[in-house]
Amino acid sequence: MLEFLTTLARRWRVVVTAVLLGVAAAALATSQLTPSYRAESQLFVALASTGDSADALAQGELFAVNRVKSYPVIADSPQVLEPVIADLGLDVSPEELAEEVEAEAVPQTVLISITVTDPSAARSAEIANAVSAQFIEVVESLDRVDEDSPSPVKVTVVRPAVAPASASFPVPAINLAVGLLAGLALGIAGAALRETLDQTVRDEDDVEQATGLGTLGVVPTNTHIDAEPVLAAGASDVVWAESYRKLRTNLSYLDPDDPPRVLMVTSALSGDGKTVTAANLAASLAQTGLRTILVEADLRRPSLAGLLELSPDVGVTSVVSGKASVADVTQRAASGMDVLTCGPIPPNPSELLGSRSFKRLVAGLLETHDRVIIDTPPLVAVTDAAVTSVVADAVIVVCTSRGTTRPDLRRAVEALRAVDAPLAGVVLNQVSLAGRSYRQYTYEPDERPRARRDKRDRDTRVPAPATSAAPRRTPGPGGADAPVLDDETADHAPRHASSG
Ligand SMILES: Nc1ncnc2c1ncn2[C@@H]1O[C@H](COP(=O)(O)OP(=O)(O)O)[C@@H](O)[C@H]1O
Ligand SMILES: [Mg+2]
Repeated sequence: MLEFLTTLARRWRVVVTAVLLGVAAAALATSQLTPSYRAESQLFVALASTGDSADALAQGELFAVNRVKSYPVIADSPQVLEPVIADLGLDVSPEELAEEVEAEAVPQTVLISITVTDPSAARSAEIANAVSAQFIEVVESLDRVDEDSPSPVKVTVVRPAVAPASASFPVPAINLAVGLLAGLALGIAGAALRETLDQTVRDEDDVEQATGLGTLGVVPTNTHIDAEPVLAAGASDVVWAESYRKLRTNLSYLDPDDPPRVLMVTSALSGDGKTVTAANLAASLAQTGLRTILVEADLRRPSLAGLLELSPDVGVTSVVSGKASVADVTQRAASGMDVLTCGPIPPNPSELLGSRSFKRLVAGLLETHDRVIIDTPPLVAVTDAAVTSVVADAVIVVCTSRGTTRPDLRRAVEALRAVDAPLAGVVLNQVSLAGRSYRQYTYEPDERPRARRDKRDRDTRVPAPATSAAPRRTPGPGGADAPVLDDETADHAPRHASSG
């Protein structure tokens, strides 16, 4: 149910559009339909008295009630309608007029109602009254024994027809309500359909299903990212900044005794957030006091220099081509980590990244630094990242929540598996916080005694913040080692609340 509501909330545009279309269609139909008006007159049938005794009166009454049942048939007969057409000068045949006239005996009474439905309000009343008058004449003459004797039946108009103020059809309120409900139903169906046809990776379950990998981090969309792309102390979006700390923590759990030192960040397509993720992960590691260096291995569309406001003139390619030493081209970013930008763009990035020279560069960096973070180009387009992965201890695949499709993510991970890359897991980037609990992202230093914490965690089922316990490592469905972080011990990215 909750999932259904969040789906609707997310796809509200589809629902609103369908409702508006439904209402608009109903309004259009209402305005296009010819309105019709109903006027009704009521007649009372009495038997002219044949005596004064109570018995005679009761007999007359019974006769009238029975008689009344057969009168309605007369109302739309040509005998009645022909004179009406002549009187009112109508341009219709008696058969056509009969369609508009409806007569019925009101059950258990001696009343007859004559209803006329016509496109004109005034004419509907006129016809109803003319039909009533003619009906009375015909009925009274029918029961007469001969021309001169008085009719035993007396019919009187008790309620003459008046022109109705509003049309009986179409009724705008009903039409609009039908349009609204139909639109709503279609909208909900459309939203559900789009959700089922949605091929994008939405949450950790989709990641697991598409790749067999776990989710190492969930990074929310940061609307201020242009002003502040890399976190610094006192970042304005604390939830966003915290998500990189959680990523850092989860990475350290991959192997607590021997944490991966060369971390490569890649993704299926360009724009997934590889560069932003790599830079923030590096900044977050540097904040803990680790000597961290960020290396730009995207030699096709380098963007680190711009992102970190560093010089783009020298960098990785200068070192690999032997034109400069690492020390010469290493720059220091404001966030506290060292950076090797791309340098001059080379004609042959793949060869360069696969060269012994590049491997030596990374090996050398490990002597001066604790952590090396490598930013790479997208996997689906070029092989650079797969080539580079041989120097990595852990490969992190960034995936845009509701952006990257499952086939693209699967292809990217397969390309990495094909070269036996040490896959660590996925970072879900640009996650919308709507529909998820904000609390799950907030940082909560936990200093309460262990026992009480355990009780709270059992009671509320909120995953506990990080402790120092090690994660289990189990082989993923894809055959590669996928880290499985224990919900009780790691402040692993939250799972969707689902109510089934
Ligand atoms: N969590 C986020 N919130 C908001 N914008 C983001 C986020 N992650 C990435 N972006 C934006 O997406 C764009 C692409 O990011 P980038 O790291 O350059 O992608 P890649 O390196 O994978 O091509 C950038 O404009 C960046 O600001
Ligand atoms: Mg990039």
